[in-house]
Amino acid sequence: MKRLLSGIQSTGNMHLGNYFGAVKNWVDMQHDYEAFYMVADLHALTTSYEDGVNIMKNTYEVIADLIACGIDPNKSTPFVQSRIPEHSELHLIFSMITPLPWLERVPTYKSKIEELKGKDLNTYGFLGYPVLQAADIMLYQADVVPVGKDQAPHLELTREVVRRFNHLYNSTFFMEPKEIFTEFPVIPGTDGNKMSKSYGNAIYLSDDAETVTQKIMKMFTDPQRLRRTDPGRPEICPLFAFQEIFNPKETKTIAADCKSAKIGCVDCKKKCLTNMLVFIEPIRMKRVELLNDKKMLDEIIDKGTKRAQKVAHETVNKVKEIIKIK
Ligand code: TRP
Ligand code: SF4
Repeated sequence: MKRLLSGIQSTGNMHLGNYFGAVKNWVDMQHDYEAFYMVADLHALTTSYEDGVNIMKNTYEVIADLIACGIDPNKSTPFVQSRIPEHSELHLIFSMITPLPWLERVPTYKSKIEELKGKDLNTYGFLGYPVLQAADIMLYQADVVPVGKDQAPHLELTREVVRRFNHLYNSTFFMEPKEIFTEFPVIPGTDGNKMSKSYGNAIYLSDDAETVTQKIMKMFTDPQRLRRTDPGRPEICPLFAFQEIFNPKETKTIAADCKSAKIGCVDCKKKCLTNMLVFIEPIRMKRVELLNDKKMLDEIIDKGTKRAQKVAHETVNKVKEIIKIK
């Protein structure tokens, strides 16, 4: 079986963007790969370095989210990054050979600083974010990494680090990993921008029915559709993107009815909402159940950590041999 690794930051609990952008694939792929699913709390620390308490809280929430979404801890290995010191160790070793300009030109570097304006991200750790990610991936010598499209530059950097490592140490130890992109490219938030915790436009798997309803009813649609009789443009309407997810069989009809003003936005939203709640509610209930049983969550984390650390430890040992620090 080929090896798979992916990660999600514990900056907040999981929203629909995380689910359809990544985690849905994780659930599907756990049967076909030896899969490692990591909650990246150290990555969360790169932008929320003074917020350890929340990161820890979110780490539990995200593990609960993952299990509630269908990650099976008996089939795959969910684990927490900071519990395995080898992540920090390989990150440090990779940081020795990663040229600064490679990191400065990673597009997510500048865009994240822009997104989190007001936060001081002029730090060594934040610049090294993709190096830590390369370490995550290579510790498990992952063949494939299922991620959203926004992660493409980090995978490219990982491969560059691998090539440089192999070249510098005249080694063939690391193989270049491949990304696998999700079929839903960008999930819009309630304001039409990309769904993101930092934009305040996310719908969470922890949102109860009333909260989800309010968010959808307030959601942006086609801004030119001011009156009920105005024709709409589904292709630019963020809500329509949700119809494609939650009402796949009806999208053609909805699009036509929108363009001819046969359906109004309120009814369109209600149609979407029904199916969205059928999807979210069972997950929400399952995650509440898990979060009320901290002992069970700890057992899941401990078991995953043990399994992951065995692999990580072997890799670091081998790397130290290769670089002659052993
Ligand atoms: N950077 C990823 C994100 O924000 C999270 C992540 C951390 C990751 N380490 C990883 C993803 C390793 C894939 C592989 O979504
Ligand atoms: Fe969007 Fe639906 Fe309104 Fe059309 S009818 S603009 S698809 S919400």
